[in-house]
Amino acid sequence: MAPGGPREPGPPWEGRTVVLGVCGGIAAYKAVQVARDLTLLGAAVDVVLTGSARRFVAPLSFEGVTGRGPLVDLFAAREAALHISLARGADCVCVAPATADFIARAASGRASDLLTTVLAAATAPVVVAPAMNDRMFAHPRTRRNLARLQEAPGYQRVGPAEGRLAAGEGSGPGRMAEPEAITDAVGRALAGGGALAGKRVLVTAGGTREPVDAVRYLGNRSSGRMGAELARAAWLRGAEVTLVTGPAAVAAPWGATVVQVETAREMREAVLGRVGGVDVAVHAAAVADYRPRSPRPGKLKRAEIGDALTLDLVRNPDIAAECAAQMKPESVAVGFALETSDLVARATEKLAAKGFDLIVANPAGERDAGFETNTNRVTIVGRDAPPRELPLMSKFAAAWEIMEAVEDRLRGKGGAGP
Ligand code: C5P
Repeated sequence: MAPGGPREPGPPWEGRTVVLGVCGGIAAYKAVQVARDLTLLGAAVDVVLTGSARRFVAPLSFEGVTGRGPLVDLFAAREAALHISLARGADCVCVAPATADFIARAASGRASDLLTTVLAAATAPVVVAPAMNDRMFAHPRTRRNLARLQEAPGYQRVGPAEGRLAAGEGSGPGRMAEPEAITDAVGRALAGGGALAGKRVLVTAGGTREPVDAVRYLGNRSSGRMGAELARAAWLRGAEVTLVTGPAAVAAPWGATVVQVETAREMREAVLGRVGGVDVAVHAAAVADYRPRSPRPGKLKRAEIGDALTLDLVRNPDIAAECAAQMKPESVAVGFALETSDLVARATEKLAAKGFDLIVANPAGERDAGFETNTNRVTIVGRDAPPRELPLMSKFAAAWEIMEAVEDRLRGKGGAGP
């Protein structure tokens, strides 16, 4: 499940052209979803089917989800040099599923059908999603071909994943990456080259759980969605991303390294151990301000407690404030401020107090923004520009804008170089 719920058109996919090559493997049925998702994200998708792909899925299925006729024949009448026009028009070529035979042919530079001929002429980045039986994937020849294919400039691989293979084959490495991982890999190839490319980004997300006893905790309503979308947006922009997350209701984005924590003190340890080496730290976690002083080792029993229970709470460390002293001078720190009133004024105070470069203010207590929603209404407050109030938008779209502001700040501080 995507961290941010349903997909909508937007950068980095919107208005771009993707050639989706589909080879003949059982995973070809999932290529229909890749084509559909890329189309929903706003890309024009030209599907190129190999001869054997047509034995697995009908061209009509792709036409139904992309609104464009799939292409199959290198020698189609009235379409001279089709391979050249497809290669010229592509902002990215994605091959999913990429079979062992396709990988062998493409690695040796063959141009024996429309798909390999497009690749021979393409200069756009290429995303390859291998899919095959685990024995075929493990074969040294396949490994060699894949390594050779990836040596080509602009080629990247997504997957394969480990999981269920075709019926009767059990599971193993060889299963095609999920459509969402493939559309994100295409997004990263499309976005390429901005100020975040190759940078190390750390994002905190989710709420923390502070134990009261062996089964109960003090927590909050954070779903972890905003943080997950920030990690995803940074990854799409080419960063190496670590997501330090408390328990969250959404899946972590594909591509990020995930560190799971529960309490504020665990989060502090995970963050402080890494923050000295990062170029950007984004503190989107809703860290509990207080924790029970001495959590009980067993389960508190009603019979022993009686009618009222008083918890003795102590202050948790302020992770973001502690980070400021440890970060490289050219790095960028971003905080969040969830406020019920005086949004920008309070956020500006926190910006200075915690040493942030940017702070993202968002309202608490609204139905469509803040906790447990897919959407947010944020204002980006910086040190040297007037606050930028963004309208209600999906959390992913907000994350994309926030990362744009991070890139501006990185460039401003001279931290955008290689
Ligand atoms: O003061 P307030 O909790 O509103 O500050 C919010 C910002 O500080 C967020 O970026 C949050 O992740 C961070 N924070 C933290 N450690 C805490 C409390 C908040 O890092 N104990």
